[in-house]
Amino acid sequence: MRIVLIGPPGAGKGTQAVRLAAHLSIPHISTGDLFREHIDQGTELGQHARTCIRDGLLVPDEVTIGMVKERLARPDAQGGFLLDGFPRNLAQAEALDGILVDPESKLDAVLELEISEAEVVKRVTGRRLCRMDRGHIFHVYFNPPEVAGVCDACGGELYQRDDDREATIRQRLKVYRSETAPVIDRYQAQGFVTTISALGSVKEVLNRALRSIGKE
Ligand code: AP5
Ligand code: MG
Repeated sequence: MRIVLIGPPGAGKGTQAVRLAAHLSIPHISTGDLFREHIDQGTELGQHARTCIRDGLLVPDEVTIGMVKERLARPDAQGGFLLDGFPRNLAQAEALDGILVDPESKLDAVLELEISEAEVVKRVTGRRLCRMDRGHIFHVYFNPPEVAGVCDACGGELYQRDDDREATIRQRLKVYRSETAPVIDRYQAQGFVTTISALGSVKEVLNRALRSIGKE
């Protein structure tokens, strides 16, 4: 399947994407995670992305679209993928249409996670990520690790993202409303969007997501 997972920052996209991708045997492609890898590796692309991410702004399209195009061209993405965090504005949605122009490679679903901004702020400010594997996502209250600061899955050190401060979250939500909400409207007009609530336990949301795409 070719799926776009969309929703505000902190809705639980990464948490669900890892589980959905494993269930569906497709790669999870998160533009945020790709940028963070580039930043850690000190690449030129990472240097372009760093200040935008820190300030809660979108990384310029010319950097982002090229990176996604390259990732989608790899062999593991030929049979399907789950995109998390892309497209995030109308120019990126148009670019994705261009990348998936072959009728065989059309999107199957756009899955929207719905959540209030108040809930997002609670989720994001308590989030902790594993340094060894960013798919291992915790929350100090909602999904705490057994030992504080240590990843249950691999023993990696847990850390807080630089852009998870409340002021930056507010900025990211503003960008979401102005730039990303129109992408949902665009896909809605094409009849692609399935919207589910992001509230409830991780397992409940996962079951809801699988049901909504007919893969329960
Ligand atoms: P990105 O990394 O994509 O961040 P985001 O969209 O802001 O979303 P988050 O990763 O913050 O949240 P999430 O929905 O994945 O939630 P999570 O599962 O972690 O992007 C970061 C930056 O990169 C952007 O601001 C931008 O600068 C740049 N960027 C990325 N893509 C770009 C693009 N296409 N174009 C331009 N720039 C781009 O969960 C959050 C917390 O909630 C966790 O603590 C988790 O444990 C907890 N949680 C999850 N589910 C539940 C649940 N059911 N109940 C209780 N708690 C839960
Ligand atoms: Mg994420």
